[in-house]
Amino acid sequence: MPKFKTILVTGGAGYIGSHCVIDLVNEGYDVIAIDNFANAVGDDEGSPALRKAEEITGKKITFYKADLLDKPQINEIFDKHEIDCVIHFAALKAVGESMQQPLLYYQNNLLGMLNLLEVMRSHSCYQMVFSSSCTVYGEPETLPITETHPTGSITNVYGRTKYFIEEMLKDLNTADKNWNIISLRYFNPVGAHPSGLIGEDPTKEFTNLMPFMAQVALGKKPVLTVFGNDYNTPDGTGIRDYIHVMDLASGHVAALNLLNDNHIGLKVYNLGTGKGVSVKELVTVFERVTGTKIPLKYVDRRLGDITAMWADASLAKEELGWCARYSIEEMCTDFWRWQTMNPNGYPKKNVKSSVIMNGTS
Ligand code: UFG
Repeated sequence: MPKFKTILVTGGAGYIGSHCVIDLVNEGYDVIAIDNFANAVGDDEGSPALRKAEEITGKKITFYKADLLDKPQINEIFDKHEIDCVIHFAALKAVGESMQQPLLYYQNNLLGMLNLLEVMRSHSCYQMVFSSSCTVYGEPETLPITETHPTGSITNVYGRTKYFIEEMLKDLNTADKNWNIISLRYFNPVGAHPSGLIGEDPTKEFTNLMPFMAQVALGKKPVLTVFGNDYNTPDGTGIRDYIHVMDLASGHVAALNLLNDNHIGLKVYNLGTGKGVSVKELVTVFERVTGTKIPLKYVDRRLGDITAMWADASLAKEELGWCARYSIEEMCTDFWRWQTMNPNGYPKKNVKSSVIMNGTS
């Protein structure tokens, strides 16, 4: 099989996408990034995250403002570039919003994926890494959770879009053996690039634990609301498997390498550290490494939250040769560096970008 040269990254201006673009460029791949700026900061002049990615890598990154719901536009990009593999991050991802606007989520995440797969097939591009989530497991029956754990009993629409796509990919793989796909189930992505130049900049409300905690540490929010201290866990707060975004990025490169060398059909891997950390534990480490104090307010459990979830990541180690390397301390330090260097996130208006738009400099 020929070595991959050009990788299309959908959602390339987003939090995980932009970190992954850096790793791909550093590995020598030609990256075409697309984004519709639904979750990522950017405008017609480009993406500040990708501009920083260019600064970090010293390489140009081709970028198109493009929407997967606009099939002719995606088709044009595939006509223009010989794309060997797609890493598909683009999706709406706010759990609360997904419950209020299910049709929006089904249209965007499912139809977007269908359009992408059809365009790929019509250009004989059958290689994909798909951005899935540990949310597909629902409430764990056993911990740590392996890839063979049942999926599908999910309590929110966002999670169901990830599950439905995984089911679609199974059907596709059964029907057409050309496809070569890896679905990566992420646990809880946190942290930022160690340079402090790129990181998570939610365009909607801050709902995830680490970004919210950082807002409290910056003095922008008065208190961290802890959702429940009566869980059946050692300290009563919820447990998650937090994974540094740089580790997630390297997981995608490892997946790409496997697809590059093998025809595997469809495979699924957990990307987690294998360690469960409670809300209280994460707050304690964050306070220690950042030298800040996070005032806490305990309230009732958040609807739909599970008690505890952490990965068995041994399959990824065995078959992808990948394992998470960053500690909880590094996750907090790197996130805090990004937040203190960019207290307001990326510049929101009049973004001057050297990123190539529409394929032209
Ligand atoms: N939490 C708080 N206070 C907050 C925010 C979160 O106590 O202000 C707690 C939650 O109750 C949970 C933990 O911190 O125990 C982590 O919550 P996050 O919102 O950071 O992450 P979730 O595990 O709820 O959700 C994340 C992603 C989803 C994904 C899911 C997969 O945000 O997109 O993991 O399990 F679907």
